[in-house]
Amino acid sequence: MNTLTKMALGLLGHLKPTPLEFDSSKSIRLPPPGVTDGMPLMRALAARQSQREFKTTVLSEETLSDLLWAAAGVNRPELVGRTAPSAMNAQEVDVYAALATGLYRYEPVAHVLHLAVAADVRRVTGYQDFVDTAPLDLVYVADHARMKMIPASHRESYASIAAGAMAQNVYLYCASTGLGAVMRAWFDRAALGQSMGLDADRQILLTQTVGMLKTPAHA
Ligand SMILES: Cc1cc2nc3c(=O)[nH]c(=O)nc-3n(C[C@H](O)[C@H](O)[C@H](O)COP(=O)(O)O)c2cc1C
Repeated sequence: MNTLTKMALGLLGHLKPTPLEFDSSKSIRLPPPGVTDGMPLMRALAARQSQREFKTTVLSEETLSDLLWAAAGVNRPELVGRTAPSAMNAQEVDVYAALATGLYRYEPVAHVLHLAVAADVRRVTGYQDFVDTAPLDLVYVADHARMKMIPASHRESYASIAAGAMAQNVYLYCASTGLGAVMRAWFDRAALGQSMGLDADRQILLTQTVGMLKTPAHA
């Protein structure tokens, strides 16, 4: 769907997910992340960039596992520490994965995706047309109920900073594996919140598209 159509539908309150013609899996147990894989950090930093042309090819469960772990995974089980920082270790940002087969919430401790919405929400995750067909759109959502220890006036900015760190981890993972990614703030917040069925404590901060590149970065 093109950008103008999305904007018009959004204004009318009609920007909606695509219904599915099959049953989604209730949960997807991800394989363990490949924590010894990938290129050296400095090379990944040298390759990091935003990309906006993706193949529709579905990402493997191994790739989903690695990139979700990079975003929000548990890297110190004894402390339930995460790969990305959060103010006062509130761990208030959840990552949702909008796949062609449904919208899933990543649960870092069990390293599992739980079905949140049995519909294809991808096209509602951004005004740009590539988000509809790229295999994965991540949605970073703050849960304000987990930030009671943080002054109310600081909660949104702290959570946005945490989401930015998570999204940068995904950028670096993608750079290290030749995948494309772009973080995005241009989306219809009302339409996406409604499509995701979020409660009043939850605030969508950021989205990010990931997929194989139509043209490899270093072809
Ligand atoms: C907060 C934020 C919001 C962004 N929103 C969008 C967006 O909605 N759509 C998009 O295509 N790119 C978006 N970008 C990506 C920027 O356009 C991109 O980072 C910038 O052009 C620099 O390019 P680079 O990432 O390749 O260095 C956003 C980046 C940031 C940090």
